[in-house]
Amino acid sequence: MSTHDAPGAAGPGERAAVLCGIGAALPETVVSNADLTARLDTTDEWIRSRTGITQRRIAGTDLTTEDLAVRAATQALARPSSVPVQALVLATTTPDRCCPATAPAVAARLGLTGIPAFDLAAGCTGFLYALAAAAGLIAAATAQAVLVIGADRLAALPAPDDRTTVPLFGDGAGSVVLRRGTAAESGTLGPVLLGSDGTHAELIRAQRPGVLRMEGAEVFRHAVDRMSAASRQAAAAAGWALDDFDHLVPHQANARIAGFTARQLGIPDDRQLHNVEHVGNTGAASIPLLLAQAAADGRIKPGHRLLLTAFGAGLTWGATTLTWPDLNP
Ligand code: UT7
Repeated sequence: MSTHDAPGAAGPGERAAVLCGIGAALPETVVSNADLTARLDTTDEWIRSRTGITQRRIAGTDLTTEDLAVRAATQALARPSSVPVQALVLATTTPDRCCPATAPAVAARLGLTGIPAFDLAAGCTGFLYALAAAAGLIAAATAQAVLVIGADRLAALPAPDDRTTVPLFGDGAGSVVLRRGTAAESGTLGPVLLGSDGTHAELIRAQRPGVLRMEGAEVFRHAVDRMSAASRQAAAAAGWALDDFDHLVPHQANARIAGFTARQLGIPDDRQLHNVEHVGNTGAASIPLLLAQAAADGRIKPGHRLLLTAFGAGLTWGATTLTWPDLNP
């Protein structure tokens, strides 16, 4: 038995990553479309019909990415099904500073000083990249359990007067705990499909907050193509047919992007989870935030089969599968 093996733990060959905790955090300040029309040359009708968004949550200067990450992670760790973690991966495009990374500070505030903790930047696909990294840490026997956080303050990126990008983004965080387990368990993460294409890096670019540039229509096209292809690959790698899924869980950038992606996959609207209407595009927080809300309001139930997919700046994309566990055993 290795030093990491505890009595009752999975055997040496069994290092599947199993979800056993989830949490989310949103800033309290709600910014509605009406709030935006008061200061931008736009309309509620344009924003709703092009994006599906009616409001977003915005962090003030006193609420950092670190703060949001700590709040979401605290919830995830407090679940009855959760376990102590020995590593932390924080996916973010909006760290509080260039150096040092935000993850060690988050670990310290959670009372986890000493564990490996690092930031990971993969745009709005960051959470799926972080899941793959966490599963790798478990497979490598670096940790028995890993805290994964997606936290972003994307609303800080657009120029305040840019009507083409300001309405799209919101702030938030989501977090899960992955523990070592067996492939047969509920909560087991399937194969994680990831990709990138830096030849299109110009399509979404921000040298610093306040100067985001985005070719929206081009990004839209790439997002639908990449998320539907990655979803097919992840489903096939898991040995599941697209009809087997209870819910598609697409990154919440835009309701139309998610809708086109679902249609390309032949997944009907009532099997597609969404919350973009209330929170906008929250970047790396998007998928865990949606999972947390949908689990809390009963849209996701234990045993449901989920297909997760995301796309973002880089360009980056990814997809994976998950059977929802019972988090209140
Ligand atoms: O995670 C990935 C991150 N990024 C994204 O997901 C964004 C992906 N792209 C999109 O979501 C969509 O492309 C947008 C919502 C950004 C834009 O929708 P669209 O249907 O692609 O519109 P468009 O960019 O082609 O613009 C259509 C028109 C333009 O006017 P003209 O040139 O036709 O006269 C824009 O200037 O809409 C105008 N427009 C607006 N009008 C009112 C752009 N933004 C606004 C606005 N209000 N807020």
